Amino acid sequence: MASEYTYDAWMEAQGIPIHRGYFVEDLRTVEVGPWAQRGCDAAFIQLAGMPGVVESRVQEIPAGGTLPPFKSSIDEICYVLMGQGSTTVWSSKSEKRHSFEWSPRSMFLLPRNTWHQLSNMQGDNPVRLLHYNYAPMAMSAVGNPDFFFNNDYEERLPIADDLFGEAQATVQEHIAEGEAGRTLWQGNFFPDMGVWDKLMHRPGRGSLNRSVYMMTPGTELTMHMSVFGAGTYKKGHRHGPGRVIVIPGGEGYSIMWANEDSERIVIPWHEASMFVPPDRWFHQHFNVGEVPGRYLALHPPHQFAGMGEDITDRAGDQIEYTQEENWIREKFESELATRGLKSAMPDAAYKETDYTWDYKGVADS
Ligand SMILES: [Fe+2]
Repeated sequence: MASEYTYDAWMEAQGIPIHRGYFVEDLRTVEVGPWAQRGCDAAFIQLAGMPGVVESRVQEIPAGGTLPPFKSSIDEICYVLMGQGSTTVWSSKSEKRHSFEWSPRSMFLLPRNTWHQLSNMQGDNPVRLLHYNYAPMAMSAVGNPDFFFNNDYEERLPIADDLFGEAQATVQEHIAEGEAGRTLWQGNFFPDMGVWDKLMHRPGRGSLNRSVYMMTPGTELTMHMSVFGAGTYKKGHRHGPGRVIVIPGGEGYSIMWANEDSERIVIPWHEASMFVPPDRWFHQHFNVGEVPGRYLALHPPHQFAGMGEDITDRAGDQIEYTQEENWIREKFESELATRGLKSAMPDAAYKETDYTWDYKGVADS
C-alpha cells in the first residue's frame, strides 16, 4: 500500500532502519545502517505519535570522521547522544563561517538553507546525534522531497560573531494574561542539557516540577525541559502528537495509555531514552532514581499548541493525584522498594486536591 504521506514514502525509500513502536530505550545502541544521501550510518525513529507531524533520526559519525557537507531547507534541531565533535555552518550569502564544538547532551540548531558539516573530534569512539524537524509537514505542502535537499537556494546567516555562542536565559514575568512566568532560554547552541539549572517552579504538574522553555531565534522550533524530584512523579495528563521526549539524565519510567480500558504501556527510561506520547494518550512520568529526573521535550509545530502542555481543560486533560487509580501509587512505591528507596510523595498530595508543593530549598531561577 502506498504511504499516506510523501514523507513516509521518502523515508521508506532511504534503505536505512526505521524503528517504530512506543519507545527506544537507548538511542546510543539502536541499529543504524549506511545512508547514501548523507554519507553516514543512520536510522529513522518514527514512534507512534509522530507520523505526518515530525521527523527524528539517529545519525552516526565514525571515530575521527567528518560527514559530507549537507544543506536542508528545513530547520533542524540536533541533540548530542554521545561523543564530542564540531559543526561548521556557512552560506555563500554570508562572509563568515561559524564553527562550534559540542559534547554529550549539547543541543544546537542546523539552520535552514545553509550548509553544515559535522565532525567527530575523537579518534576512538563514534558520535551519535538525534535530529528533529518538521519534514513530514513540509513534504505534505511540497510533495517533492528533492526540493528540500542540497538545492540552489541559500539564505544569509544572521550577522553575529557569537551566532552559536551559549544560549542566554531570561525570565519572562508573564507570557500572556493570566499565565505564570517562565524561564526562557534562547539561542542556537545549548551546551549541556544534563546540568542546566536555571529552572522555574511549575507546581501545576506536581512532583517539585521545574522547567525551562527554549527557542531558536528565526525559527518556529521550540523545546522545553522539565526537571522533577527524586522519588516523585508527575500528574497524568494528555495532549497532542509529535512531542519527542529524550532523556538527558535520571532514571525512571513513564506510563502511557489511550483510555481507561486500554493497555498500559510502561516505558523504562534513563539517559538517551526516547519516547513520544501518542495523540491524546494519557501519560505520566515517574522518577525512581536518587537524583532529579530530566526530560527534554522537542515540540511539534505551533499548529499543535492548542493540544500542548498548557492544560486548557484541566478536568479532562489532567489527572490529579487524588483521582488516580490506586495501582499507580502502588507500582511506584514497589519500583522504589526494589531499588532500596522510598517515595518522597507527601501523603497530603493524595488527599488534598489543591495540595501546595513545598519548594523550600529547591532552587528557582
Ligand atoms: Fe506530556
